[in-house]
Amino acid sequence: MANTGAGKVALVTGASAGIGKASAQALLKEGYKVVLAGRRLELLEQAIAETGVPKGQALAVKVDVGDPAGVQALFEQTKNVFNRLDVLFNNAGTGAPATPMEDLSYEQWMTVVNANLTGTFLCMQQAVKIMKAQTPQGGRIINNGSISAHTPRPFSMAYTATKHAVTGLTKTMSLDGRKDNIACGQIDIGNAATPMTERMTKGVPQPNGTTMVEPRMDVEHVANAVVYMASLPLDANVMFMTIMATKMPFAGRG
Ligand SMILES: NC(=O)c1ccc[n+]([C@@H]2O[C@H](COP(=O)([O-])OP(=O)(O)OC[C@H]3O[C@@H](n4cnc5c(N)ncnc54)[C@H](OP(=O)(O)O)[C@@H]3O)[C@@H](O)[C@H]2O)c1
Repeated sequence: MANTGAGKVALVTGASAGIGKASAQALLKEGYKVVLAGRRLELLEQAIAETGVPKGQALAVKVDVGDPAGVQALFEQTKNVFNRLDVLFNNAGTGAPATPMEDLSYEQWMTVVNANLTGTFLCMQQAVKIMKAQTPQGGRIINNGSISAHTPRPFSMAYTATKHAVTGLTKTMSLDGRKDNIACGQIDIGNAATPMTERMTKGVPQPNGTTMVEPRMDVEHVANAVVYMASLPLDANVMFMTIMATKMPFAGRG
């Protein structure tokens, strides 16, 4: 692939680390203009600087995706600076520590719901408003689900529930988006090497009560998959893609 992003504008949430950072950098290298959003502005600016792209190709915006006013301002700024939006990668997300659900605090629950579910909804809503009104009309939304959108890890009620809910957002968006030329797909990732999965190198709880070190894969494979999904013409859509460490426990009940 080369320069499939020329003339296109993408917005990546959670671009300060891990999958979001790798994907934003891959999109920049592919020629997209990219808005990098997240709460840690200095890391967003560092991610841009690392690519060496010309000033004006990228914009860093500090935002908590669970904050409606902040999200509205993010998309207004995107429109003001780049004048359109072709691709939204709804990537920002977080989990709570592995905790029996009866011990999970309301605050822990809401932190995960706000980032993974409400944040994805709020960003989709603002993206749709821009995409349906722009010329040429339309765009693409890619939601970051998870293997946890299919099956839980032990003690992961908040994360698993919100990731299942993201599947609901994706399916509804891909239906309702048709009238406005908006395609919507979801990438379900398993064990990409990022700060979030660092704990897997030391061992994570398994359904049989043991703790096991799990294999991870290079985050670049996810970034390349996102670039591929983004590069399709709007009359074609990857609705769901599962990309995972080949030998992680998922297939075969373990
Ligand atoms: N790594 C995997 O194997 C894996 C597997 C399945 C799904 N995923 C999903 O992939 C996404 C990224 O995961 P990752 O592994 O790259 O995790 P990560 O390294 O912990 O990065 C998470 C990113 O999300 C941002 N974020 C979190 N809460 C936010 C909020 N309220 N507002 C704005 N930004 C927020 C963080 O930025 P700030 O802290 O700067 O705001 C950070 O950039 C998540 O949705 C995760 O559920 C990852």
